[in-house]
Amino acid sequence: MIQFVNVSKEFVNKDDNVHALRELSLTVEKGDIFGVIGFSGAGKSTLLRMVNALETPTAGQVLVQGQNLAQLSPAELRKTRKEIAMVFQQFNLLDSRTVFDNVAMPLKLNHVPKAEIAERVEELLKFVELSDKRNAYPQKLSGGQKQRVGIARALATQPSILLCDEPTSALDPKTTDSILQLLQKVNRELGVTILIITHQISVIQKICNRVAVMENGRVAEQGTVLEVFSHPKAAITKDFVSTVIDDRIPESIQKSLATDARNNTVIRLHFLGSNSREAMVSAINKKFNVETNILFASVHELQNTVLGTLVLQLVGSSEEIAAVEAYIQKSDVDFEEAAV
Ligand SMILES: Nc1ncnc2c1ncn2[C@@H]1O[C@H](COP(=O)(O)OP(=O)(O)OP(=O)(O)O)[C@@H](O)[C@H]1O
Ligand SMILES: [Mg+2]
Repeated sequence: MIQFVNVSKEFVNKDDNVHALRELSLTVEKGDIFGVIGFSGAGKSTLLRMVNALETPTAGQVLVQGQNLAQLSPAELRKTRKEIAMVFQQFNLLDSRTVFDNVAMPLKLNHVPKAEIAERVEELLKFVELSDKRNAYPQKLSGGQKQRVGIARALATQPSILLCDEPTSALDPKTTDSILQLLQKVNRELGVTILIITHQISVIQKICNRVAVMENGRVAEQGTVLEVFSHPKAAITKDFVSTVIDDRIPESIQKSLATDARNNTVIRLHFLGSNSREAMVSAINKKFNVETNILFASVHELQNTVLGTLVLQLVGSSEEIAAVEAYIQKSDVDFEEAAV
């Protein structure tokens, strides 16, 4: 539905040229809540702004619903842009207008009849739970309420794609959660595809089904949130994911492992869904002549799926440990030897 094909963007400045995007490719499917994460300057906003042609690529193509934006006539581009709405970190509301008028703005610009505007705005305010604030001015609203107005305004023209540039970065954690829930409702109930950029991995964890991790204008890693969170590959992804899914072995245990003179191996097991961790440990104990010590265990929920991590120390002969590893490999549980 949104495709970036080898997209590069170079900003030419007086003193130096900035490569904001470098041969970047990714695909956002219809119905996705697709998250793009990266540090400041990674190129996230540049990427987002290309979807509604606020930026144009220096090389490569951006396709929206199969159409190459660079090849559209001005009239076609206007039509495509109507399908796409945007939500901003700083809300971008008009302070001199009421909540009602802010939400009505895109409809007025589209010359929608007055009665229809009134009906549509009331419906939108109800959807974002702000009907009682219709006559308030933005200064009187909390950050979360302002963002709800921003979302209602974005939905006014019934877009099929919603672009969100750091929509929760100016909000406290509790308000962030309520805005994320609202975005999820927009996706599920209205069928809107959402492309959201953020530097907060918790945002990705809570609502996205797919993620791309950006570094220096490139995609360092992408995939389903479940794949990427359970098996982060790039160093930057590991850093981000470890802040929400911490499966590092506590330091005190690491110290005692370092002085453990017995022949042993430490493995990290990843359980997805209903795989039972207890069953795996007890099967190893029964079948093999090794001692198993559970060093660390954690459970997280992602995309309604349980993601469990178990760090096990296996003590025994090298042959027996190899046999355990071969046994686990045959099961559907992922594992790797853990660096201690
Ligand atoms: N109009 C512009 N002219 C020149 N350079 C620009 C322009 N827009 C962005 N850049 C540069 O491109 C790079 C990527 O910027 P971008 O705003 O896309 O990053 P970002 O990931 O959104 O960062 P942040 O998290 O701070 O918002 C930066 O080095 C930035 O300075
Ligand atoms: Mg940005």
